[in-house]
Amino acid sequence: MNVDLYEKIWIGIAIGLIALFVGAIGYGAVAFAGHPPSHVETIDPKTARTDARFAQPGVTVRPDGSVQVVLLAQMFSFLPNEIRVPAGKPVTFRMTSPDVVHGFQIVGTNGNTMVIPGYVSQFTTVFREPGEYLIVCNEYCGLGHHYMQGKLIVTAEGT
Ligand code: CUA
Repeated sequence: MNVDLYEKIWIGIAIGLIALFVGAIGYGAVAFAGHPPSHVETIDPKTARTDARFAQPGVTVRPDGSVQVVLLAQMFSFLPNEIRVPAGKPVTFRMTSPDVVHGFQIVGTNGNTMVIPGYVSQFTTVFREPGEYLIVCNEYCGLGHHYMQGKLIVTAEGT
């Protein structure tokens, strides 16, 4: 088989790029302990409602001014359903599901995570713009999926 010189060069470049990309993924996974978003914290979904970490869902302000929101995503609501946080402060969301996979998306912001039974999903973000934001479940979770929504109220700093 006769392969043209330029074709050989391009085949070589293509193989080299694939090796580079696969290598980059491997390097990232090993060197930076890369894993899917959030952290790996497990919980028994059967006892999630009474687990000390989730027995009292709601908003708490830490001494340093940062805010923690603990919530449950369940068929077919978020608990609590209305969340009030201050603008301009880091807000850490911690949530889990006692039943099936749900989504937690704060529309118009970068707040978005899957909520998987057996795991605690966590992310931290800052809301710059005060206002009302819609929270939706973006993973199909059953017949009431499209009713599963909540509200985030971001209050102006200092109020
Ligand atoms: Cu919960 Cu869809």
